[in-house]
Amino acid sequence: MYDLSEHILDIAENSVNAGANKIWINITEDIETDLLEIEIKDNGKGMTKEEAEQAKNPFVTSRTTRNVGLGIPLFKEAAEQSGGKLEISSAPGKGTTVKAIFGYGNIDRKPLGDMTETLISLMLLAKDKDIFYKRNNNGNEIEIDTMQLKKDLEIERLDDVVILNSLKKLFRNYKI
Ligand SMILES: Nc1ncnc2c1ncn2[C@@H]1O[C@H](COP(=O)(O)OP(=O)(O)O)[C@@H](O)[C@H]1O
Ligand SMILES: [Mg+2]
Repeated sequence: MYDLSEHILDIAENSVNAGANKIWINITEDIETDLLEIEIKDNGKGMTKEEAEQAKNPFVTSRTTRNVGLGIPLFKEAAEQSGGKLEISSAPGKGTTVKAIFGYGNIDRKPLGDMTETLISLMLLAKDKDIFYKRNNNGNEIEIDTMQLKKDLEIERLDDVVILNSLKKLFRNYKI
């Protein structure tokens, strides 16, 4: 149903909602170890241990006060389906790291999908926040840093249709 890129957008949206002004997305694909790792990190409001546990397993609780979201559980399920796992490390006031590990060559591992679409949507959503994207595809590294992009283009923000359209073409050319 979802490509991994769509899950990544979901998880990064949580970072925006948590008030983060910096979001890091790291993707590492390694045929040698047969692993695909996706890490989404932010400097948002963070979660307590209990909240992080609840976010991973929303149905394993007696509490009913909280709205049950499915962004994290669906991402976790996708990882587990491929023989991998999902971990959250977080602390209130510090930020959150969501790390999902996938069996790279597992038949049930979802495709990464369209990371250009995810990054462009995130830039639109995150507005003036900084996004640091790094992808290592079996040794080929690509890095996108919106702070640097803004400096290079001499603009204040990236949420402009004309700019986003040119970036979209650029990202597609580089197969981010
Ligand atoms: N990066 C984050 N920082 C702080 N809290 C988070 C973060 N990601 C998730 N959460 C908490 O976990 C909850 C569940 O997240 P999720 O499964 O994506 O569902 P939803 O976003 O629909 O609530 C969020 O509502 C939020 O309270
Ligand atoms: Mg969510």
